[in-house]
Amino acid sequence: MYVLGIESTCDETACSIVHAGKEILANVVSSQIDLHEQYGGVVPELACRRHIDVILPVLKECLAQARLQLTQLDLIAVANGPGLIGALLIGLNTAKSLSLALGKPLIGVNHVEAHLYAALMSHSEEVQFPCLGIVLSGGHTTLLKIEALGRYALLSETVDDAIGEAFDKVAKILDLPYPGGPQIEALALQGDAHRFPLKPGKVKGSPLHFSFSGLKTGVLYAVKGQNGAQTNSFNQQDKADLAASFQRVALNDILEKTVIAAHQHNCSTLVFGGGVTHNNALRRLFGEKAPHLNCLWPGPGLSLDNGAMIAGLGYHKFLEKGGDPLDLDALTRIAF
Ligand code: KG4
Ligand code: ZN
Repeated sequence: MYVLGIESTCDETACSIVHAGKEILANVVSSQIDLHEQYGGVVPELACRRHIDVILPVLKECLAQARLQLTQLDLIAVANGPGLIGALLIGLNTAKSLSLALGKPLIGVNHVEAHLYAALMSHSEEVQFPCLGIVLSGGHTTLLKIEALGRYALLSETVDDAIGEAFDKVAKILDLPYPGGPQIEALALQGDAHRFPLKPGKVKGSPLHFSFSGLKTGVLYAVKGQNGAQTNSFNQQDKADLAASFQRVALNDILEKTVIAAHQHNCSTLVFGGGVTHNNALRRLFGEKAPHLNCLWPGPGLSLDNGAMIAGLGYHKFLEKGGDPLDLDALTRIAF
């Protein structure tokens, strides 16, 4: 089965064609970083307009790379949530139009679940369930017990900022461009990660939950002082030390809670998903501190938002329950 996957939940317009849930024939992503950079974050109205402009060129490029015609597609998969409503509708209506015009089935896919599938489709080994899912993205910081593909139990999530959001906000405080994650990671390489005594967020009564807003405020206080009046200017080395200290504390917090959850729920395999899993310091940390756990990371091009994870998961959903009706809704939030 050749499955087209369409992704437009936030600020990437992406199409991919995947054969039988795993073999990627084309994976085209049009990023909107250039558009949103000057505002320091995603501007939804601008994101929607750009999705409209580029979705058909991205689709054409995807078909050309896969050397397939539209008529050779067997299924149209689309991320129908969670995400920005206007952005979602553009991908969804494109998918519905293709489904109707080509007479091919349509399937809606949960974007967050697809982030976890990205790691599963990147490995040839059969995964032993149950395993632990760790979603680290711009919108989510979530630990899930994966009983089987499509069967999840929510273990914990963030009570305020998501981890990617925290990277982006800290980058803004340090005057680094959007998106902040890769900038912080690069700057941290030159910094002393123990210079600033920042504290990880704890959630009273819920030891596995995450909280990053206090850590972000700790960075702000280090720069501006507690009343915002500190004027001593931060030089490049100070910024690098602060970036490294923030990253150390944030990533260690994720490591510690993940290891506890894996232990509590008898999971020896960890399945990672989301844009923050692109971070090499995170991957190294788990390799060094949790060598007893089998870590499955998304393969190249599958950490950040992409259409391949949508097509791959769409294939399994379709085999399990058939297609969705043409009145499939876009959902800004989906509970696990
Ligand atoms: O999964 P994703 O592409 O979109 C959402 O579904 O949110 O994740 C985007 C997030 C952004 O917050 C970005 O700063 C972060 O992933 N990110 C990183 C890195 N690359 C992207 N965070 C830390 N280190 C990175 N190398
Ligand atoms: Zn995402």
